Amino acid sequence: MNPVLASRLANIAPFHVMELAKMAAELERQGRSIIHMGIGEPDFTAPPPVIEAATRAMADGKLQYTSATGIPALREAIAAHYQNVYGLQVAPSRIIVTAGASAALLLACAALVEKGAEVLMPDPSYPCNRHFVAAFEGLAKMIPSGPEQRFQLSDAMVREHWSERTGGVLLASPSNPTGTSIPHDELSKIVGTVREKGGFTIVDEIYQGLSYDEVPFSALSLGEDVIVINSFSKYFNMTGWRLGWLVVPEFMVPQVEKLAQNLFICASSIAQHAGIACFSPQSLAIYEERKAEFKRRRDYIVPAMRALGFKVPVTPDGAFYVYADCSSISDDADSLTIAMLNEAGVVLVPGLDFGPYTARQYIRLSYATSMENLEEAMARLNKFLVRIRR
Ligand SMILES: Cc1ncc(COP(=O)(O)O)c(C=O)c1O
Repeated sequence: MNPVLASRLANIAPFHVMELAKMAAELERQGRSIIHMGIGEPDFTAPPPVIEAATRAMADGKLQYTSATGIPALREAIAAHYQNVYGLQVAPSRIIVTAGASAALLLACAALVEKGAEVLMPDPSYPCNRHFVAAFEGLAKMIPSGPEQRFQLSDAMVREHWSERTGGVLLASPSNPTGTSIPHDELSKIVGTVREKGGFTIVDEIYQGLSYDEVPFSALSLGEDVIVINSFSKYFNMTGWRLGWLVVPEFMVPQVEKLAQNLFICASSIAQHAGIACFSPQSLAIYEERKAEFKRRRDYIVPAMRALGFKVPVTPDGAFYVYADCSSISDDADSLTIAMLNEAGVVLVPGLDFGPYTARQYIRLSYATSMENLEEAMARLNKFLVRIRR
């Protein structure tokens, strides 16, 4: 007889993007050509200086557990990056190296989410966020956030939805799935409100290096009490290495350290040694070139999607996503993405993953693929749309 599974599993939804990826893989096995614009993963991989540092770490036998908070040289390199790029002084002791932003989010939620407490977040949001909260028996309160709010929470919305059950807010800027950022003044007001209420603010800055229009800033500039998540997966092109970090107030460090010791022991030691090389001038020059390429793609794809008849009500200013309103084409984004996969060979993700508010009306496109692929995808979608509009 099978064991009885924990009831909390009922609160965890599958990741539809992965289901579509599985369907796409099956079509590829049958010999179909598929263009992938579903999963949010850079098409670039770690640059040569990072690969060399990883190879060196292996040759030098740096292959054992590290301390749970990460190797000091990497924590110092991250702190120096905050100083060099954002003019911010962040003590290395406040930086905890993790297995990607995923582990950082898990640690932050483990440390802050009380059983039964509400955590405010926009709808749409990164799907795992509500599940991290659910894993610790908190309640993700998803607040409908449309294009008028750049799909983000405003200070007024935080005030309106705060109750005595609210523990804090979980935000991402730039956001997945919308690629939109929270303006500095608005975020500053939100942090002030949450502080006044005695709650916590977690800001996921995983797409921070990929900001195309505004002068980028870190929420760390708004006070030591703001908890910041970051990662080597996106700007640093290291998805499979599983490396990220969390910045917490000094008083939380021993608490998060004991959680990290118990939950993970440490992040991959090879990845940590390689991660230091991300901050060398050679690597940063490569990353900035790649960022310029992402911006070039964004500037191509947004008008191209609009020309096809999708509405893109807010031009994304960061990350590598376009969140497009498909309601003039179909009233069911889910079946539209399945038809686009089967008939046009293009993978896009329905809004369903990101929360109920925009589930049927929106699709997410990831432009983390070559210009050639993007142009081919637009041509295929054009043919598909001409066919279904007949
Ligand atoms: C907003 C956001 N946060 C966290 C993650 C998890 O990233 P990581 O690979 O660093 O665990 C992702 C991945 O897509 C993301 O989009």
